Amino acid sequence: MPDLCVNIDHVATVRQARRTWEPDPAWAAVEAQLGGAHGITFHLREDRRHIQDDDLRKLKDLTNTRLNMEMAATSEMLGIAVQLQPQMAMLVPEGRDEITTEGGLDVVGRIDELRPIVHALKGAGIPVSAFIDAEPDQVSAAAECGFNVCELHTGPYADCFHQYGRSNEASAVMDEVERVSRASRSVLEAGMRCNAGHGLNYDNVAPIAAIAGLSELHIGHSIISRSIFVGVREATREMIRRMASTQSI
Ligand code: PXP
Repeated sequence: MPDLCVNIDHVATVRQARRTWEPDPAWAAVEAQLGGAHGITFHLREDRRHIQDDDLRKLKDLTNTRLNMEMAATSEMLGIAVQLQPQMAMLVPEGRDEITTEGGLDVVGRIDELRPIVHALKGAGIPVSAFIDAEPDQVSAAAECGFNVCELHTGPYADCFHQYGRSNEASAVMDEVERVSRASRSVLEAGMRCNAGHGLNYDNVAPIAAIAGLSELHIGHSIISRSIFVGVREATREMIRRMASTQSI
């Protein structure tokens, strides 16, 4: 079964709605860790819409689990990552108008721009992940660009699951699982680690968690939403139970 990394951005979104000090995403990270999370994921966006620079030091001080920093491929973010030394840097595309990360990074189209950032992060001892669509050409380009890890975008699977009545039996949904599964095999064959995430929730996580060879799932919105009712610790435990209840496909 893959490890669970809990994305705590949404806690900061609630805080920033009032520009106040609560709820604290670093406390949420500690609760997620106590609930069994293997890592904490956060996205320091260029527009600072949720996580703030001050949160990074607090996350580092309060948690003792893996920190995964999602970031745009810019020199500003590179400098911050090198200083923070997270366990992994995850390069994602960023759009000012998007509500959340919408598509995978176009490594094919941006390989020359990405290569020096990947090189600099790796040179600073930070493994680098590419958040990509589950497409063969993006996997090959990620390997060529020197990424250590690919995170496969499960948003299309999650949308399809929702569209087909929240059922994993629909053939279109099974096709989406197969697409992620095929891409994960290519990632592993290319010598990279493979993670997955986006849009996963308590109902749709099982078939993705069952894909052989995935190292981590990165899940945020669903866990933080559930935590309003049961707390972050319990919401994390529940997700791990859902992931563990899977059978191999
Ligand atoms: N992976 C990446 C690269 C993301 O940008 C996000 C959202 O911030 C997630 C995973 C988590 O997605 P969700 O909040 O839908 O679980």
